[in-house]
Amino acid sequence: MSETPHRKPRILLGVTGSIAAYKSLELVKYLKSSAEVRVVLTAAGSRLVPENELKKASGFPVWTSLFKGATPIKPGTPGGSHPLAVVPHIEYAKTADLILIAPATADILGKLVQGLADDLLSTLCLYASCPIWAAPAMNVRMWNHPAVVSNRKILLARGVSFLGPDNGHLACGEVGDGRFAEPREIAFQVESHFRHFGEWTGKKVLVAAGPTREPLDPVRVITNHSSGKMGYALAQAALNRGAEVILVSGPTRLIPPAGIKTYWVETAEEMRNRVHRNFPKSDILIMAAAVSDYRPSRVSKTKLKKTSGGLTLRLRKNPDILAEALKNKKSSQIIVGFSAETDHLAQNALNKWKKKPCDILVANQVGKKGSGFGTDRNEILVFSRKNPKPLWFKNDLKSRLAEKLLDEINKF
Ligand code: PMT
Repeated sequence: MSETPHRKPRILLGVTGSIAAYKSLELVKYLKSSAEVRVVLTAAGSRLVPENELKKASGFPVWTSLFKGATPIKPGTPGGSHPLAVVPHIEYAKTADLILIAPATADILGKLVQGLADDLLSTLCLYASCPIWAAPAMNVRMWNHPAVVSNRKILLARGVSFLGPDNGHLACGEVGDGRFAEPREIAFQVESHFRHFGEWTGKKVLVAAGPTREPLDPVRVITNHSSGKMGYALAQAALNRGAEVILVSGPTRLIPPAGIKTYWVETAEEMRNRVHRNFPKSDILIMAAAVSDYRPSRVSKTKLKKTSGGLTLRLRKNPDILAEALKNKKSSQIIVGFSAETDHLAQNALNKWKKKPCDILVANQVGKKGSGFGTDRNEILVFSRKNPKPLWFKNDLKSRLAEKLLDEINKF
């Protein structure tokens, strides 16, 4: 999308044949609070969620076939020689602001890659010029199949954004990646995309996310439990506002949103190089990464052999990326740091803020169930130069906290 529409945003929701298709009813309900939703149901999708229910939920007829509802063209009609000219859903696709495929099966991803147009949804995806977002839902083995992995990469490179999938229990009884993202969360991202779009146009935002991995030998590393979720949520939120976002990411299982330039790094040293190379041209730096403070003094070229006794490791201090950025900061730049604490959250974070005086320091407790590392949720205490007192943001989804943090950044 290049502009925020003045009318209600128009969403074409493609529902495909994943077992999660029944959740599209709930998704429509959430999406409708901020957008007009027209549903395109594939043949496989219609076996899993009744067309009628989707019609009731969206308030509009559900489109299932390319030619259903088309006005027949009489031979010789001037200007009407192409059937697409008179099909209502094609007309609608012209003005859609977003195509959201949710749930998206491996099949539709493959069709998008190949440019197939053998049903209504795939045809509209080729025809429409608006962004396409996909919320995949499939079995973990399918999700990790080399064909699907390759399709994901191609689609990302073409600008298709992915929402999820989540990791967890799957309908087939297996556990892993492939779970349909929560409908409320999908709707939240869509709503945020339309509400904030353009607010940060022209801003350059640099986000460091995820863990670092310090090698000890060719098979072992020193790392931590960061999943990258907090940093990725911030990168997505900045993108939703129209910023140009650069993500420097340690190893994670997450897919960066399309439209974000991502640099993958392993070690603190690599992260430092990427951050410092991009920092001078950034307006905002967000250091949500969990950077290893130490690395092994010596990296063995061969696997360290087990001995009968213990093993003592010598560690060397890693560079402090945030501290270095603070030293080089221009007055126009804004720096957001994080503070991960297991205890005495406020006091420890305050001590850190004195040593690393960022514009905003976000303290979060780690080692606690339901917040901090690895989970979709967090609770944070925000110290800001713009607020006399720290602000407490209670336990919420990282995506929502990211929005609130961006609102805090807006105060500068
Ligand atoms: O990734 P998730 O699973 O979603 O979890 C999110 C998170 C808990 C990792 C994130 O919210 C968080 O707290 N990130 C910072 C973790 C951390 O390294 O905290 P720290 O208190 O050790 O470091 C303070 C700040 O200095 C951080 O901004 C850190 O990025 C930065 N730092 C630390 C060490 C170092 N060598 N260089 C740095 O730049």
